[in-house]
Amino acid sequence: MLEVVNLRKAYGPLLAVDDVSFSLSPGDVFGFIGPNGAGKTTTIRMLTTLLEPTGGTARINGADIWKDPMGVRRQIGYMPDFFGLYDDIKVWEYLDFFAAIYKIPTRDRNAVIDNVLELTDLTTKRESFVQTLSRGMQQRLCLAKCLVHDPALLLLDEPASGLDPRARAEFKELVVELGRMGKIVIVSSHILPELAAFCNKVGIIERGKMLAYGAVNDIVKQVRAGRHIDVRLLGEGDGAVDVISKMPHVIKVSTVGPSALEIEFSGDDQQQAALLATMLAKGIRILDFHERKFDLEDVFLQITTGAVN
Ligand SMILES: Nc1ncnc2c1ncn2[C@@H]1O[C@H](COP(=O)(O)OP(=O)(O)OP(=O)(O)O)[C@@H](O)[C@H]1O
Ligand SMILES: [Mg+2]
Repeated sequence: MLEVVNLRKAYGPLLAVDDVSFSLSPGDVFGFIGPNGAGKTTTIRMLTTLLEPTGGTARINGADIWKDPMGVRRQIGYMPDFFGLYDDIKVWEYLDFFAAIYKIPTRDRNAVIDNVLELTDLTTKRESFVQTLSRGMQQRLCLAKCLVHDPALLLLDEPASGLDPRARAEFKELVVELGRMGKIVIVSSHILPELAAFCNKVGIIERGKMLAYGAVNDIVKQVRAGRHIDVRLLGEGDGAVDVISKMPHVIKVSTVGPSALEIEFSGDDQQQAALLATMLAKGIRILDFHERKFDLEDVFLQITTGAVN
């Protein structure tokens, strides 16, 4: 389990990370989302023990970043936003090198390497030189390197940047698989919709502050009190606004154009069907009636203010 408690990092007067707390359990895939300069990399680097916090702490399975940094390092795999690979070294040699650093016994190393190559779909590249791999493959190799010591927590800082859509999709699948294996995965990104589909929890950070945290659906509910229903009427629909405003569970009705309305509605599916039936029964002539699908990008923009440090 990962516990992050009031983590804080100040650079002079600038609070890059301002009292961030959250906790994650095995199998959690956490999307860490925020605009440029929000504090994602700073937070992640403190969790890796590479950067000393100004305050607060974090514990991974009981190992504290202050008291037991080596214990923390043994349990994490970190994929930085910019990483370098070594040239003139073969894929398996690269992984063997890191397996040695993590003190995996020589007799076990081949099996470990086979295992991570298979997981990252690089088995056929075993004998290739690292510099001949495509960007997407290098990304997967970097992840493979993070997995040789079977860490409990993976910290992936914008792992999908620079990947084509197919490579992104494959990377997502890999992250989901890691979650299924019972690891805790933290993935950072600028883009909420990109992570929302496969993360069971997300945190939205801006100017060092965690503005929203939890399951995507819960965050959406916090931001949007009710449903939005778009209605297009036949003709001008005079008086329709007054009539609809009085119907059950209607929070607000606004006209969007001469014959278009937007209804803010707090009811459930049954009550929404009843609303449509009542409107028709009242003689309102409806051309179109549909619930607006929420747009995660809108939710993100509503939560964040666009301010940067
Ligand atoms: N070594 C440093 N010295 C001073 N300020 C720093 C340092 N590192 C980061 N910062 C500042 O801390 C804030 C958070 O930076 P951080 O790199 O954590 O953001 P980020 O969310 O990872 O952004 P990006 O999406 O651009 O990667 C920024 O305002 C940045 O300028
Ligand atoms: Mg960053």
